[in-house]
Amino acid sequence: MLEVRGLRKCYTTGRHPTAALDRVDLTVEKGSFATVLGPSGSGKTTLLRCIAGFERADAGTIRLAGRDLDSPSISSVRPYDRDIGVVPQEGALFPHLSVARNVAFGIADRPRARRRERVEQLLELVGLQGLGDRRPHQLSGGQQQRVALARALAPEPRLILLDEPFSALDAQLRVELREEVRGLLRSLGTTALLVTHDQAEAMTLADHLVVMRGGRVVAAGDPRQVYDEPVDAEMGRFLGEAVVVRGTLAGSGDTVTVDCVLGRLAVAAETGADRLPGRTDCDVLVRPEQLRVQRLDGPVEAPPWSPGRTGSASAPAATSTAGATASVVAQSFYGHDALVRVRLDDGTQLAVRVPGSVRFGVGDRVRVQVDTPVWTYAGSASTAT
Ligand SMILES: Nc1ncnc2c1ncn2[C@@H]1O[C@H](COP(=O)(O)OP(=O)(O)O)[C@@H](O)[C@H]1O
Ligand SMILES: [Mg+2]
Repeated sequence: MLEVRGLRKCYTTGRHPTAALDRVDLTVEKGSFATVLGPSGSGKTTLLRCIAGFERADAGTIRLAGRDLDSPSISSVRPYDRDIGVVPQEGALFPHLSVARNVAFGIADRPRARRRERVEQLLELVGLQGLGDRRPHQLSGGQQQRVALARALAPEPRLILLDEPFSALDAQLRVELREEVRGLLRSLGTTALLVTHDQAEAMTLADHLVVMRGGRVVAAGDPRQVYDEPVDAEMGRFLGEAVVVRGTLAGSGDTVTVDCVLGRLAVAAETGADRLPGRTDCDVLVRPEQLRVQRLDGPVEAPPWSPGRTGSASAPAATSTAGATASVVAQSFYGHDALVRVRLDDGTQLAVRVPGSVRFGVGDRVRVQVDTPVWTYAGSASTAT
């Protein structure tokens, strides 16, 4: 198990110190796959470099399998004594060394025959058998990343760190290789920590997802929970397509509702009045998969809020109340599904996820309904009442 506690790292460039890491806590269970998701500059690479020992943190502790690697009371354990393998950004293979020599780099101390055997075994493991004599530039991008992985795995590290390992690859290969690498690390039982700015990559790979922003951990947990229950509206938008509309809270206890451009909607108990005490104005987070569109046949009066309605065939777990009329402005087709962009009558634009077989035309009049509950947050313009 990897345990990082209170990690801080400050860089001073010119006169201004930047906190690249600000009291970062992180736990990765033995044998699990954890991902850190954050925008560029959020501190992901710095975090990995501190864990790997390439960088010394200003404060905090790093423990791996019960052993202190870095803490105020000890002198920092050197990178090659940490039992950690690293797959750096862009692979960073040694261009002048053959593939086999790259892979053997971390096991140079082993007897020649054992080393050769291990390299063969690793090349086979990553699907590159027979390519040991090539130079890195004679390989494709995906193959180079496999070599980088084999090199990191060679000494059988307790922990493997991967810094955006697939970001230079084209979309299809990225998806294939990440599935493959995850399966491989899982079968080997290696504990892994991967950092990325790619939301889909972070979510699909993770047993445990950590979200970073400005050097801080802003959320951590099961990826589904982190996605379903974003800590704030900004994170909701960062983790997936979402729109935020203004709302006014009403009610109390279990029956908090919010009035907004989409009607009167039930609010998730976790985000209701308890989270926003004394506030009525709020931000309402709405995801495309929470919305449904239905073509309006003929002109329909746009009701301010239509009466509540419970139960629905398409989403049995959710209840739908109210809705709004809108016009279709665009439809993006993704094959398995599509996003329909609509403009509500007040001008708000929303994206609605629909099956790929559903077709709308620009200008079609539709009714938009929301599967509730929705999540609400203290808005920028919120005022205490
Ligand atoms: N060696 C360095 N010197 C000065 N500032 C740095 C250095 N490395 C990173 N930073 C700064 O620290 C912050 C985090 O950087 P980094 O860890 O590379 O983020 P990420 O990998 O998430 O893009 C950024 O503001 C970056 O400019
Ligand atoms: Mg980085």
